[in-house]
Formats: sequence, structure tokens, C-alpha cells
Amino acid sequence: MARIVVVGSINMDLVTTVGRRPEAGETVSGDRFALVPGGKGSNQAIAARRAGAEVELVGAVGADVFAEALRRVLRDAGVGDSGLRAVEGPSGIASIVVDGGGENTIIVVAGANGRMTELSAADLDAIAGADVLMCQLEIPVLTVLAAARHARANGTVVLLNPSPVQELPDEVWAEVDVAVVNEGEAARLAGVLTAVPHVVTTLGAAGASYRGPGGLALAHPGVRVQVVDTTGAGDAFTGALAAHWHEGPATALAWACTAGALTTTKLGASASIPESAEIERLLAETEVR
Ligand code: RIB
Repeated sequence: MARIVVVGSINMDLVTTVGRRPEAGETVSGDRFALVPGGKGSNQAIAARRAGAEVELVGAVGADVFAEALRRVLRDAGVGDSGLRAVEGPSGIASIVVDGGGENTIIVVAGANGRMTELSAADLDAIAGADVLMCQLEIPVLTVLAAARHARANGTVVLLNPSPVQELPDEVWAEVDVAVVNEGEAARLAGVLTAVPHVVTTLGAAGASYRGPGGLALAHPGVRVQVVDTTGAGDAFTGALAAHWHEGPATALAWACTAGALTTTKLGASASIPESAEIERLLAETEVR
């Protein structure tokens, strides 16, 4: 079983579903509203746990009504939360609109995630003892850099999902072993990704591709499902990939594509991330066909 430490965000997602998004200045009636724990760090931690890894999240919640629910979702999923600190002010939130086609738009307000500026001695020990460190870009870049440096120095694989995409100092890229990007991120980061040893690119309904050392290239086709909400699909993909990375890129891609596809079949990020039995069942069916 892989041991994974996620240094990343945790948000409360305020999710509204609507047939059609409003134009600027227009008011429309929505269909449903739900509060669903999310955040790329937390979603990826839960996804890795459900895909079979032992996982700990290092992150921050605020001092508000959302903090307890955010902590509980990790505990219920079996993700270690001893690295989750409480800081002053609000927790991170994401305002998410899901349209009739299952596509989303997301506005994130960092809150406590923006104050995740220090790593404790216990956090550093956890990173050093893990097989994989998994990070995203919803916490300060300097914290990601400190975690990645420490991981590299201790032989822990550094997996970065550079989302929301932004320019990063070269020092960060120098520490990355595996980058997981979508097509937009791949285009925007094309220059820097050439120096990353392993690059996995998600292709939406078309599956994913992998480029590794020595020109090794692989692809996994899309897994056909009925799409309800694409929120968190990339996170489920990344978490499952990390959980199975030690089995090689072909197996990891298959788990990742299947977990990502299953996540789109329900509303809400953390609520829709599949358990490993569900992933294994669909994997087996896909192989038989
Ligand atoms: O990737 C989906 C996540 O992005 C949501 O859960 C939201 O919190 C934002 O971080």
C-alpha cells in the first residue's frame, strides 16, 4: 500500500446547478444548491485513500462554521488529519456553478489555505517517510516548494498537479518528478514540462496520455459514463494515479481514468469520488470488452 502525504487545500464548495449559466447582468433560477466539502488537496487525498493508499493531509481550516465539516469528511474517508491546523479567519470556499451539460465554473476564495505558510517538524517527518508527496497550487507556492524540496531530499516522489495554473519559479519545477495536467495546462506550461521526467495529461472524455523517460509514451482511452458533474474528476484522477504509481504508468493510468470517469456520474466533488471496489469493477468490465 502506497503512503501518500498531500500538502494542499481544503474548501467548502457552494454548489449550484442551473440549466443555463446567466449572462452578465442577468438573473436566472437555479435547480439545486448543496454544500459539499472539496478543495483540490482534500479531494485528491480522499481519492488516493479510496483507491487504496494510506494518506495524510497537511493543510489548514479556518475558525468558522465550515471547519468541523471539512475535518469530518477527511476522518470519515480514513485520511489522516493530524497535519490539519486551525488558523484564524474563514476556511477556504469555492463557489461552483454546474450547468445542464455537467460543465462547471469555479471561483475559489483561499481563506485558511492562503495562510498555510509553515510546515511543522511533524509535517516534514511525514513527507520524508512517504512514498509520494502530492501538491496542487491552492496554497502558497513557497509552501509547495518547501514540501517538494524536503521530499526530493528524502527520496519521496514529488507529484504536482499545477492547478489553478500559474507561472511557477524554476526551483519548483526542478523538484517535480511527476506532473499531472489537463490540456489547457499542458499548452500553457509546454516549455517547463519538457524538463519534468513524467508528464500525465488528462484529455477529458478521451482519457489520458503519459510521456516518460527515454521517450516512453502511453495512452489510455476514455471510459464511457453518463456525465452529471465534472467537478473533482481531475482530482479523483490524480489521487488514484498517485495511489497506483508504484505499479507503473500503464496500471496507474487505468485506475486514474476509471476513477475520474466515475466521479463525473454524481454531483459534488468529495461526495462523488469512487471507492476502490467500484473502480475495480469498472476496470474489469472495460478489460473484458
Ligand atoms: O477541483 C475541484 C475543486 O476545485 C473543488 O472541490 C473546489 O474546491 C476547487 O478547489
